[in-house]
Amino acid sequence: MSATAVRAGAFLHHLQMQSPAPDRLAAFYGGAMDMNAEQLPDGRWLCYGPQRRVLFAQGAAGKLDYAAFACRDAEGLGELYARASREGLDPVDVSSPLLSRAFSVRDPDGNGVVFGIANPDDHDRPGLRGPLQHVTLATFDVGAIEDFYAGKLGFLVSDRVINDKGGLATSFMRSNHEHHTLACFLSSRRGVDHHSYEAGEWNTIRDWADRFAARNIRLMWGPGRHGPGNNLFVFIADPDGNWIEVSAELELMRDRPVRHWPHAERTLNLWGNAIMRS
Ligand SMILES: [Fe+2]
Repeated sequence: MSATAVRAGAFLHHLQMQSPAPDRLAAFYGGAMDMNAEQLPDGRWLCYGPQRRVLFAQGAAGKLDYAAFACRDAEGLGELYARASREGLDPVDVSSPLLSRAFSVRDPDGNGVVFGIANPDDHDRPGLRGPLQHVTLATFDVGAIEDFYAGKLGFLVSDRVINDKGGLATSFMRSNHEHHTLACFLSSRRGVDHHSYEAGEWNTIRDWADRFAARNIRLMWGPGRHGPGNNLFVFIADPDGNWIEVSAELELMRDRPVRHWPHAERTLNLWGNAIMRS
């Protein structure tokens, strides 16, 4: 199995999510997540801050249109396109306000995945540290999602959570040196579980939590530390009910075997209680 996505150095560049009230969601991200919010000519809202960008389109609450990954260079992107074609994923060229040479595929649950090259004038500005870092999916079939991203696109599995029946409850996958850029939880629903911004270190999580407090936004989970990835975390929810994670100290990968963890609260939070998805 070839690690095509990892060789391409793909990192999570932006998400496009649907919302019944994209303007309201954009205003929330502008304030809470320290982003500028602007409406594009086609009606979508673009929110952007330092190394983080999210698009909101009119639609159903909680629906992920696509997760977009940027590759290091055109060679890596070309290899990914060729691999996707060989694997029968029918990659489709797409235009994007944020990426060039982008193509799109769909995973077995219908989530869109886009790969491209980041535009040099990338929407960016100074602000609180927290690059968009990973997206986590919810699914009925973690094995099918893992087979798609790792088996067909060349993500690498970093860790798995295995339940009492020996089934795959969670898969953490990477497309660069970060422990996971994409993860997937077994769940009673399909779609996105949460997305995460990497604050880097503990004191910056404090600054994020103070920012949320100033806006009367309560933490819904954490602070805690995940087992897989060893990252510190807090979670909040946006007005549509999407879960937002701010993380720090995420493990950077060197070669090591895939670890298997028990499906237990302590795996999800070494410090305390967990939100179990299955
Ligand atoms: Fe996460």
